[in-house]
Amino acid sequence: MTKISLLLGLQWGDEGKGKIVDVLSQKHDIIARFQGGPNAGHTLVFNGQKHVLHTIPSGIFHETAMNIVGNGVVIDPVIFKKELDNLSKHNIDYTKKLLLSRKAHLILPTHRLLDAASETAKGKAKIGSTLKGIGPTYMDKTGRNGLRIGDLELENWKDKYNRLSQKHLKMLSHFNIKIEFDLNELEVDFFEAIKVLKNIPFVDSVHYLQEELKNEKKILAEGAQGSLLDIDFGTYPFVTSSTTTAAGACTGLGIAPNQIGEVYGIMKAYTTRVGSGPFPTELFDTDGERMAKVGNEFGATTGRPRRCGWLDLVALKYAVQINGVTQLSMMKSDVLSGFDTIKACTSYLYKGKEITHFPYSIDEKDVKPIYTEFTGWNKDITEIETPSEIPNTLKEYITFIENYVGVPVTILSVGPDRKQTINLS
Ligand code: GDP
Ligand code: IMO
Ligand code: MG
Repeated sequence: MTKISLLLGLQWGDEGKGKIVDVLSQKHDIIARFQGGPNAGHTLVFNGQKHVLHTIPSGIFHETAMNIVGNGVVIDPVIFKKELDNLSKHNIDYTKKLLLSRKAHLILPTHRLLDAASETAKGKAKIGSTLKGIGPTYMDKTGRNGLRIGDLELENWKDKYNRLSQKHLKMLSHFNIKIEFDLNELEVDFFEAIKVLKNIPFVDSVHYLQEELKNEKKILAEGAQGSLLDIDFGTYPFVTSSTTTAAGACTGLGIAPNQIGEVYGIMKAYTTRVGSGPFPTELFDTDGERMAKVGNEFGATTGRPRRCGWLDLVALKYAVQINGVTQLSMMKSDVLSGFDTIKACTSYLYKGKEITHFPYSIDEKDVKPIYTEFTGWNKDITEIETPSEIPNTLKEYITFIENYVGVPVTILSVGPDRKQTINLS
């Protein structure tokens, strides 16, 4: 039976997943998002234009690929409508290539308010949420209170909506915090957006995907966020509220583990993180500033500056293991061009002992990174097109990574554009 391929981020998100999904869309019939929501910002660059997608799968720009938003995703109709408007502006006809799972949950305006109240209440301990209502929506899902896409087909769906938003307003009043909002105004936008959302076909997505697998269609599952933001395996509590790892594709699409074939793990040649939480290899010096500047490290969803640091191979190996990664895409190697020395963390000094596994806590007080150094490549690599043009020192860096994590790097990305992609396999 045809296997489904899986693509996910191996760090703290923003690895470049959108770009590689776009590149791989040529070889796939269906692109399926399986978790997260508009906290994601996936950037695609081609024909001199940049596009950022939040909920819509990154295959939408390809003529033939079908795109489906799976049951594991949480959808904000207002943001979804904006994404559709953007596509229309670029003359992309999405009407025949976008489907929504009836089992996906809806983000209500009051979910966003609860997110804001919860973050404000945490004070200095805040998670650094994108404030898109992700946590509260998944809480309602697991609490069995959520509103789903399929509910919108019921005549009494507005009653359900009202019950849930009333509950949220009560919850908000329990916070000792004043959040300014005008619910009427928010609801005007919300109900308007729901009308637009209803023009997209709702499907029984498990049946749809399983039938298409039987028809030997090639499916690529698109992850959001990254493994270190996973609700179970990430740096809890500084994580998102979904399963960002391979298991999330099973629950978020209704596929069985033995239906998964290739697992594409996306990683940057260094590390970034946006929001709060531990980050052992974070740099606070000119090297970090340089990565941020050259790499243009600003959040695609919130515009916040991303924290930057060296590659953490201990964390990467952990992510490769829990996802069963079969091949790596190494992104943004061009950003490291010109560094005399490049470092990668190859073990942790954990509570005074050297370890090579990812421990319970990677808090600064527990973990100090131990580095291996590499000679840099003093060459602009953004124009190279073939593996033979890759500088030897970059090849050595890649080989070291492959040996450390036990998986080959099959795609090397040397710039944001679709074309700046070198196939190493
Ligand atoms: P995603 O969330 O994983 O899809 O990643 P983002 O889109 O949030 O962030 C990745 C950023 O890096 C985007 O601005 C991309 O256009 C850009 N990018 C992707 N690959 C490369 C690369 O190889 N080199 C450079 N310089 N930029 C890249
Ligand atoms: P993509 O798919 C980077 C981070 C937030 C915050 C934490 C919780 O573009 O890689 P949430 O809004 O989920 O409550 O935020 O997770 N975060 C991301 N960081 N890329 C993302 O998505 C992210 N989605 C959430 O910054 O630290
Ligand atoms: Mg992103």
